[in-house]
Amino acid sequence: MCGIIGCTGRDDAVDVVLHGLATLEYRGYDSAGLALVSGPQAAPELRVVKRAGKLASLQQAVEGQALPGRSGIGHTRWATHGAPTDRNAHPHVSGDGRLAVVHNGIIENHEALRSELVAAGVELASETDTELVAHLVAAERDALAGDGQAATTGSALAEALRRTVRRLEGQYALAVLDVHEPETIVAARYGAPLILGHDDDVSWLASDIAGLIAHTRDVEVLLDRQLAVLTPGGIAVTDLDGEPTEGLRYKVDWDVDAAEKQGYPHFMLKEIYEQPQALTDTLLGRLGEDGLLSLDEQRLAEGELRRIDKVYVVACGTSYHAGMVGRYAIEHWARLGVEVEIASEFRYRDPILNPHTLVVAISQSGETTDTIAAAAHARDQRAPVLAITNVVGSTLARQSDGVLYTRAGPEIGVAATKTFLTQVVATAVLALFLAQERRTLLPEEIGDAFARLEALGPLLEQVLAHDDRIAELAHHLSGADYFMFIARHAGLPIALEGALKLKEISYLHAEGFPAGEMKHGPIALIDDGGPVIAVATRSHVRAKLLSNLAEVRARGAVVVALATEGDPEIHAAADHVIGLPDVHELLAPILAVVPLQLLAYHVAVALGRDVDQPRNLAKTVTVE
Ligand code: G6P
Repeated sequence: MCGIIGCTGRDDAVDVVLHGLATLEYRGYDSAGLALVSGPQAAPELRVVKRAGKLASLQQAVEGQALPGRSGIGHTRWATHGAPTDRNAHPHVSGDGRLAVVHNGIIENHEALRSELVAAGVELASETDTELVAHLVAAERDALAGDGQAATTGSALAEALRRTVRRLEGQYALAVLDVHEPETIVAARYGAPLILGHDDDVSWLASDIAGLIAHTRDVEVLLDRQLAVLTPGGIAVTDLDGEPTEGLRYKVDWDVDAAEKQGYPHFMLKEIYEQPQALTDTLLGRLGEDGLLSLDEQRLAEGELRRIDKVYVVACGTSYHAGMVGRYAIEHWARLGVEVEIASEFRYRDPILNPHTLVVAISQSGETTDTIAAAAHARDQRAPVLAITNVVGSTLARQSDGVLYTRAGPEIGVAATKTFLTQVVATAVLALFLAQERRTLLPEEIGDAFARLEALGPLLEQVLAHDDRIAELAHHLSGADYFMFIARHAGLPIALEGALKLKEISYLHAEGFPAGEMKHGPIALIDDGGPVIAVATRSHVRAKLLSNLAEVRARGAVVVALATEGDPEIHAAADHVIGLPDVHELLAPILAVVPLQLLAYHVAVALGRDVDQPRNLAKTVTVE
């Protein structure tokens, strides 16, 4: 939610900031802007260009302008405070026009700060919380200069930002550029991600790795309440008292191609096609030569998992659906009761948690505010937290007692696809891991189930081969204004996910229901020709589902069924059938989601929607 980029030490700062913004645009696209320190060394000046709308508007505005400069910051916005206008676009500038700030997050005490600044005679140019930070930092910088105080790190700007952030409530990732220190960028973080990039003679910062990977793999995750001073010669990290400290430094192991479209028309389609490989990567090396499964990070005491008697899964959006799929495997294989909860609800409830409750937090980004808060809520009650996330070093990963990484690589399309599939795979691995710890399955049963998971890679390729047919079907159905998705048992979360995917990117009304609930209300929505998409693969409840299909069909629905190949009865129950390979019913969701992703994709394309950047959404939701 909002993307920040910054670089100091490159003569073409404007180009690299614009390029960085392009890689981060999926984090928000209500407006984009940049600030550079330009002009001759003797008389540097701050240049700011910002535009409402997508990055293309900013690129147009910049075109033809001479914007030399060796240090720059940029921002792509998902609006919270203030409408998505030019005025409210970041960067925001201090009253003297010499200092610029970009920000991701929400300053919760903005009303009080605003009143204070207005009372002091400051004229505000926008409705944003961020602009207040620009004025506050500039005032602190001026006060420091007036006092003749030497700054702790040698950067007055750093000290000014330190003093300012001590006054802020809420979450922030901030980057500040000031003409007074033309080759310095100062950044601070609390509750919103910020990654530093180390490089020879250039220093970088960005909201996530996608913004840096074209330049460096040597990254450092800035941690909460840390502040970084970037100069071309290097990056110094301090705490809020100015004491030197370190973030979390590591080498990124994916390459730049992963964040490029590589000939696909959209990132979403590319990411759908990457799923066989993503599945393989997620499983790689999990089962040791000793036949034992392990987590990626494990900070739990020996035997702790054996004493677990209840599991809560907390997540948002698509990750929540992955948790719903995982519930079936954890209950069946590990024999533990599982509740799956929307994180934004769970965090404000008073659930019964104790050291024997395992809380599994699922988040692609590892930065979703509500999921992080739900995990913290659990830890406060001494419940161990296990994270399933795609991002090494993310806040959630660092704040959990154990981590399973999904290893899906970067996902740029706002609609989650390969990260969902790998989350489901990870929940299956977790279920087997818990079964191993609790001894509810024999080692050979665990090995057998794991081998079935591994065998899904080639089967996913077979499912992808239906793409053309699904595109045709999508074209045919794209005139409908309401889609229903129905299923039972482990297929249900896939129906919900299919509906979410479709509504996110096509803006059509789509809802998922348990097939058994149709008669309690939703069936009233059925009229002639309305599409009903059913996840009807082989399972112990398939016969019940076939009856439900007959009921909707009798009322005029056009039924599209995802069914197991060779199912003789399905053709009598559905108008269109997409055949899927026959696999264990707990693993069938991993195959069944793919045709629904493709269906959503092709409907959105047929309707001319912006598939990778659907309206009003952002990839990573770092505000409540
Ligand atoms: C946003 C994204 C979804 C994602 C959800 C949770 O809404 O658009 O694709 O499922 O956030 O994100 P997380 O990073 O926690 O999985």
